[in-house]
Amino acid sequence: MRIEFAPLNTAVTGASVIAAVAFEGGALSAEAQALDAQTGGALARAVAAGRFTGGKGQTVELLAPSGVEAGRLLLVGAGAAPGDAENLAAQAYKAVSASGAKELVIRTGGDAEAAAKAAFGASLAAYRFDRYRTTEKAEKKPSIEVVKIETADVAAAQKAFEPLSALADAVIFSRDLVSEPANILHPEEFAARVKGLEKLGLTVEILGEAEMSKLGMGSLLGVGQGSRRESQLVVVQWKGGGDAQPVAFVGKGVCFDTGGISLKPADGMEDMKWDMGGAAAVAGLMHVLAGRKAKVNAVGILGLVENMPDGNAQRPGDVVTSMSGQTIEVINTDAEGRLVLADALWYCQDRFKPQFMVDLATLTGAIIIALGNDYAGLFSNNDELSANLLAAGEAENELLWRMPLPAAYEKQIESPIADMKNVGGRPAGSATAALFLQKYVNGLPWAHLDIAGVAWKKPSTNPTIPDGGVGFGVRLLNRMVADKYEG
Ligand code: BES
Ligand code: MN
Ligand code: ZN
Repeated sequence: MRIEFAPLNTAVTGASVIAAVAFEGGALSAEAQALDAQTGGALARAVAAGRFTGGKGQTVELLAPSGVEAGRLLLVGAGAAPGDAENLAAQAYKAVSASGAKELVIRTGGDAEAAAKAAFGASLAAYRFDRYRTTEKAEKKPSIEVVKIETADVAAAQKAFEPLSALADAVIFSRDLVSEPANILHPEEFAARVKGLEKLGLTVEILGEAEMSKLGMGSLLGVGQGSRRESQLVVVQWKGGGDAQPVAFVGKGVCFDTGGISLKPADGMEDMKWDMGGAAAVAGLMHVLAGRKAKVNAVGILGLVENMPDGNAQRPGDVVTSMSGQTIEVINTDAEGRLVLADALWYCQDRFKPQFMVDLATLTGAIIIALGNDYAGLFSNNDELSANLLAAGEAENELLWRMPLPAAYEKQIESPIADMKNVGGRPAGSATAALFLQKYVNGLPWAHLDIAGVAWKKPSTNPTIPDGGVGFGVRLLNRMVADKYEG
């Protein structure tokens, strides 16, 4: 699917759909009124013939209308507000994507900024992960080949779309990583795909097991030790901020989480291919920062492993020594994400001395029990960083909810034989996981986003998000960097 900007009232054919907006109560926008007049009032009659009230998410279609060339007219409900162009365009695309029409013309006024947002919404809505579907029937496949967004100023819309187009590419890159099955996307393949981003101007270093072993990363390496696939630590740098201190992002990249010797039940285990959603978000963030040449220095660290049961796998009760020197009693090999992040966080602060670190991880089932699938959990030692993250999440509709980090709960992860153990029991399971991570932060401003509930949607109710990998975090972090940390 291509995106184009077109002048107002652009020419259409019988294979076109023209989409326009209506508001709560059924009131037609100026563009919809003009279409209604051209069709001799058929659009208003179509509204009256059904239950369309202009509510958010509603659509009504008029087929083969007389008086216009287009094969269809589509009204999209905006609710009470003037409507957000991103979601309206996404809604329009979803409504007709497999209708047989080849072209969708979005006729929503002339504003170039709104047109750019509409283009962004349509780009995200058109995403699907279908590379392994070889026998899908033609009539089930998307038919729309081009989305034309009308605007009074094509050049200005194109300009405004540049950073959003970079963002859409990055979100899609992240979604592909999340959706890939684990036989394809193992740590080395993940690292290779990120290495491919050097073409955007990023610097990408890949550390293998020998190098990590030299650095003393016994905690991360213990997790991957039962896998035939080599663990990788990927260090991505974007240098767009002169000599400013970098901002840093760290992602959990467990390419598959069987639980290890503390094996998970079979039912639903296939979901654990997306246990690398945190690393995918960090990779996507670095992609967009480079894509739009952000004026910031940023570091992305990806801890990539596969957690497998094996003759060489680590055992419950094993004690590992992390890069920080702190020792960990591994009570449950399924609490592996924190073991990966322990070394990735320590390495990050030790090497880069960043302004702050934000880590993203599909860390705990407990966060899904606490917050469900619409909010990620935010744990932080810093109010300013938290406020910035919360605001960016609101703005991009990637919602966060701040959770407590009570020092008193550290008792739950005390070990009688090591500096800590890797599980803290059922009470506040997400908080004790975050408290564990905090021991590897070394005093920096830090935030941890537990994205276990939001990295994957099935089904999705948001037209800009497909069923499957969301790419959660890319938009949020990009927004926070753009609003707060670019010089
Ligand atoms: N990757 C899982 C967490 C998870 C669960 C993500 C469900 C997405 C959906 C993590 O590695 C894990 O297994 N956590 C355990 C921790 C427990 C053993 C302390 C959990 O949440 O059960
Ligand atoms: Mn696990
Ligand atoms: Zn996991």
